[in-house]
Amino acid sequence: MNNGHNGQLINEVNALRAERNAVILAHYYQPGEVQDIADYVGDSLQLAQKAATTNADVIVFCGVYFMAESAAILSPEKIVLLPEPKAGCPMADMADVNDLRKRKAELPGVKVVCYVNSSAEVKAESDICCTSSNAHKIVESLADEDILFVPDENLGKYVASKAKRHFHLWQGFCPIHHRLHKGDIQKSRMEHPEAKVLVHPECREEVWREADYVGSTAGIIQYAVNSKDKEFIIGTECGILHELKKRCPDKTFYMASEFLQCPNMKKTDLQKVRDALFSLSPRVTVSAEVREKAIDALEKMLAVTK
Ligand code: 13P
Ligand code: SF4
Repeated sequence: MNNGHNGQLINEVNALRAERNAVILAHYYQPGEVQDIADYVGDSLQLAQKAATTNADVIVFCGVYFMAESAAILSPEKIVLLPEPKAGCPMADMADVNDLRKRKAELPGVKVVCYVNSSAEVKAESDICCTSSNAHKIVESLADEDILFVPDENLGKYVASKAKRHFHLWQGFCPIHHRLHKGDIQKSRMEHPEAKVLVHPECREEVWREADYVGSTAGIIQYAVNSKDKEFIIGTECGILHELKKRCPDKTFYMASEFLQCPNMKKTDLQKVRDALFSLSPRVTVSAEVREKAIDALEKMLAVTK
């Protein structure tokens, strides 16, 4: 797409955004051109907080399905648009609600903590949600019960390593972060001995144990901004480089692997954002029955993380 065409699309997005009283939310893994036209760019928690409190009539969610679905649960009176309806999250699909019900029946009294990367139905069967930035706080907010953590086993192990609690872990994973191995970190460190290693907790245990810092996308960005160091090896999805380079123009970032790209996060582009605003579709909705149960888990999470 040439710049002239982009300029035209940006103008159209701006005009439609005003006309529709819309807010555009974009995750840090979105393509740079989408992050640049967003009203807010953030990690999963920051975007859920915005979705819950915005005064806009329309939320354009530039991310993946579970994020738009959470916005629809938190703000049912608003129109929630997902510009690319096929942008799903394979990890969220790894937790089936019937399997979760069966597992709960096997573990009476267990508290279910579900990573926000999950379906509305799974949230409806959970006690509380968490994201990668507040998972530890969420677990600490619960009384001394055993925890069933769904669906991300890597994040669950990371949180369990810090909490004095018994965890039952689901066997889901992010296919992108799971690609990263300890050997990639060791090789990157050999190539860039001065660099600090910053990774996402969706990475394997063998990876987060090698890191200098483990945190959400917003956490990684904050660490790099505040650090006196000048070089960083990044163990999360490559879309984060856009914000890192903007916020830290004097610092150098190396991806820990060339394979850290989420195809679902890259399905949204300017044209689809413009078309969604124009047609007010595709919309994401959640049935009242599921929503009434799922909202509890999300609102409890937001209350703990205020
Ligand atoms: P955060 O936004 O919490 O960093 O999670 C990353 C992610 O995988 C979103 O799909
Ligand atoms: Fe899902 Fe991983 Fe893509 Fe995030 S990066 S949307 S967890 S597949």
